[in-house]
Amino acid sequence: MSSADIYREVILDYYRHPRNFGKLEKFDIDSHDSNPLCGDEIEMQVQVGSGQKMEEVKFTGKGCAISQASVSMLTELAKGKPLGWVKELSKEDVFKMLGNPDLGPSRVKCALLGMKVLKTGVYGYLGAQYEEKDEGELP
Ligand code: FES
Repeated sequence: MSSADIYREVILDYYRHPRNFGKLEKFDIDSHDSNPLCGDEIEMQVQVGSGQKMEEVKFTGKGCAISQASVSMLTELAKGKPLGWVKELSKEDVFKMLGNPDLGPSRVKCALLGMKVLKTGVYGYLGAQYEEKDEGELP
């Protein structure tokens, strides 16, 4: 079995048995997006704990194997990490996480949908915190 085959198996396994699939009862971030090309969607929820760490991360969604496996792997990577880690996260990190598969342009969107949802949610949360602080500091 080539390493590409192994990664294909891993992606299919995450698709069939998604880790961290479901909804959180308590969450601070709730973010949703879809791929306009196909309509596939992903919702992610994050519970933020002390030190701005992502204590719990879950997702729900429907779509192709790559989009669903990618977001599921991402929840595992993100769990326990500080919110700042999401800002640093790049598409190369996601491709590496997936085993650098040979993706065509339309599949790249599939692979990156989860990252987009996570980044949108975290940036929105940090932006709202910043605004709150700002308003509190007004004379
Ligand atoms: Fe829709 Fe992949 S085909 S996200």
